[in-house]
Amino acid sequence: MFQINENYQQLNESYLFSTISKKISAYAAAHPDAKIIRMGIGDVTLPLSPAVIEALHKSVDEMGAKATFRGYGPEQGYDFLREKIAGTDFQRRGINIAADEIFVSDGAKSDTGNIGDILGEDNSVAITDPVYPVYLDTNIMRIGQGDKIHFLASNAANNFLPEIPSRKIDVVYLCYPNNPTGTVMKKAELKKWVEYAREHESLILFDAAYEAFITESDVPHSIFEIEGAEICAIEFRSFSKNAGFTGLRCSYTVVPKALKAKNGKGEKISLHALWKRRQSTKYNETPYIVQRGAEAVYSPEGQKETKALVAYYMENAKTIRNGLEQKGWTVYGGINAPYIWVQCPAGTGDSWGFFDRLLNECLVVGTPGVGFGKNGEGYFRFSSFNSHENTREAVERIKNWKY
Ligand code: MLT
Repeated sequence: MFQINENYQQLNESYLFSTISKKISAYAAAHPDAKIIRMGIGDVTLPLSPAVIEALHKSVDEMGAKATFRGYGPEQGYDFLREKIAGTDFQRRGINIAADEIFVSDGAKSDTGNIGDILGEDNSVAITDPVYPVYLDTNIMRIGQGDKIHFLASNAANNFLPEIPSRKIDVVYLCYPNNPTGTVMKKAELKKWVEYAREHESLILFDAAYEAFITESDVPHSIFEIEGAEICAIEFRSFSKNAGFTGLRCSYTVVPKALKAKNGKGEKISLHALWKRRQSTKYNETPYIVQRGAEAVYSPEGQKETKALVAYYMENAKTIRNGLEQKGWTVYGGINAPYIWVQCPAGTGDSWGFFDRLLNECLVVGTPGVGFGKNGEGYFRFSSFNSHENTREAVERIKNWKY
């Protein structure tokens, strides 16, 4: 009989956010009148901005007219979008990234999950713990649990800045501003990682999906702000959280042309060429309409409206942070990221125990820290993607909670 990829049997039975979603559905079915406030998965709640909507409508009309209809688009994305990305997100900040180093895609989740396709199976891989589960799960799917996956503890003791490994690791995943802890890595620290990667000929996979939420000026928005990162890093960005594209789907990945890796014969091969080959074979481009919507994010109105969306959620982050601090809880994040990471206070149980009690006693949903890795045990993540009203109400309920 044909066989399965047995690595899948090493995964948890269901993806973290699917498990949570099932738990909420079960609770809601049993308590149909309960007003549950969801602060679990980082899914946006505000509608798309007017500039994006206008661009979407216009491009829908173009698709309906013979003269302007489009079929398959260019494999890396349309130049109109890639040029705006390169100009606004990088060159304007003095970062030397060209439009042809940008690959437009349908989500940072897919790209961070798929990037392993172009990397050798014998690479050692380092992942922070706690971590966005996609990096770990997709590596298990590809190479199995084995001894190739290393965990870099990220905790209160090291200020959520994992120690640089003392030995050579081939591929390192970093996500800053961090999901789930909401903490950041300043430039000096990130520079050390780039130096490490250059010295050991390692690759850093840098997930910057939350860069738009940075409020402090000394926090890097891109790994390419660090000199020399173009020969050791790939960066992932997304329109999901800043521009509300979680349901529309658009992201991009920067693969610098200077980035090379060795094949078995020791020849240097361009990762840009490999990713292009991978994407042109397995992905048929982000829809034209969606790319026009993403382009509108870079118009003057789009920039203003997008900043307003981000500011709205960051106001929630402040409400959550301040409210929980006032309750005496130990709180991290929420200043440069939409996530607030709290230590479950004594008497509330472990991460899942806290989840159950918070749902049952406050009708508030968050994400158990242990779902992001064993270092997350005893912690809990709140997302600020909700309305001001719901956020205030959730914080009030928690403040009045006697546990
Ligand atoms: C999260 O809640 O960690 C994110 O929303 C998940 C994602 O973006 O895929």
